[in-house]
Amino acid sequence: MAEFLLSVSALEGNARVLRRVADASGAKVLIALKAFATTSALHYLRPYADGACASGLYEAQLAAEYLGGYIAVYSPAYTQDDLSHLLDFAHHIDFNSLPQWMRFRDLCLQHPRTLNGELQFGLRVNPCHSTGHTPLYDPCAPGSRLGVPLCDLHDADLTGITGLHLHTLCEQYTDDLISTIAALEKQAAPLLASSAIRYLNIGGGHWITKADYNRTALEELITRLQQRYNLQVFLEPGEAWCIHSGVLRAHVLDIFESLGHHHAILDVSVSAHMPDVLEMPYRPRIFCLVPPGVSNAMREQQPAVCLPGEHYAAAGANNELPYTYCLGAPTCLAGDVLGDFSFPRPLDIGDAIILDDMAQYTIVKTTHFNGVAHPSIALLLPDGSVRVVRSFSYHDFVDRLG
Ligand SMILES: Cc1ncc(COP(=O)(O)O)c(C=O)c1O
Repeated sequence: MAEFLLSVSALEGNARVLRRVADASGAKVLIALKAFATTSALHYLRPYADGACASGLYEAQLAAEYLGGYIAVYSPAYTQDDLSHLLDFAHHIDFNSLPQWMRFRDLCLQHPRTLNGELQFGLRVNPCHSTGHTPLYDPCAPGSRLGVPLCDLHDADLTGITGLHLHTLCEQYTDDLISTIAALEKQAAPLLASSAIRYLNIGGGHWITKADYNRTALEELITRLQQRYNLQVFLEPGEAWCIHSGVLRAHVLDIFESLGHHHAILDVSVSAHMPDVLEMPYRPRIFCLVPPGVSNAMREQQPAVCLPGEHYAAAGANNELPYTYCLGAPTCLAGDVLGDFSFPRPLDIGDAIILDDMAQYTIVKTTHFNGVAHPSIALLLPDGSVRVVRSFSYHDFVDRLG
């Protein structure tokens, strides 16, 4: 049975890095639940986080139940029902457009929690400054639906707005953040400096827990913004909390040849269990198990989560290592494949194949497409034991479909 395996020690390692950044800079750091919301694992992140960033009512409810702290909500649009619930327990509610804010402004400003200072409202802005390389993840593209272009704010009535929110990055470093903040300041310094604006949420997409991320530059930027504009900076990364902390362990179900092409069918679906591989698209790092004595240059690399007693070899590109297979899914979709990967030894039925770095934006996105068995979810605890926190059955497949 395939399994998402999450390392608690790796999660806590990331969490410590994020906490240090927050403490050094005075920023509040939230967990973006859209990236990762496995509640049994959030339990271990909770002591390090100032709260959660929610994409709407359900994630906000999860945050209230399992995390506590600040609950900052941003959605491209709210229903009146959802908003009415959120008013009762969220701390920041950020709006995406001026028309939505104007429509709900009275409801928001008259709420008792607003009047007693527990609840504030922000506006997502678009600095129109693209720095990313993947169009699917670029909210600054011309005509984007995400956020109010800063140039449209000049004549706007912002009564009741006390925060600005921007999210423009995806897996990026401080250079791109610094140029984005420069674009923001160029267009909106007087607004930032006005006494009305009390928080600046600089979104997610910051690769803060990567070894080569310049955390000092981030801390200096945050400190400067807070001092110059007298506001509280919020960070809401998702991926940075759980990068390099999870793998998807799959198995080989069948091996065959088709017109000279060698195929290995796995017990997982790319489309159903790791859709970003097809959407972004990207090529994941993959490992197979090897006996301890096998010497192979690829042995230098290790998956994010290793089990005691197991030895791994990284798969290579097509024909880089002696045995190449197209790794595919047991579904009807022709393109449901990971691609061609080569291995130091022939694969066999039942072999474990480790798909690296599958904590972020995987478990939250899975489906039961084709009725393929859903991988269970397990935690590798610091004492080396594995605790399965969720397994799935036929009933989960049927119940969801109505
Ligand atoms: C508004 C917002 N905040 C935070 C995040 C988290 O981003 P990441 O997981 O890349 O850090 C996202 C991701 O799409 C987002 O849209």
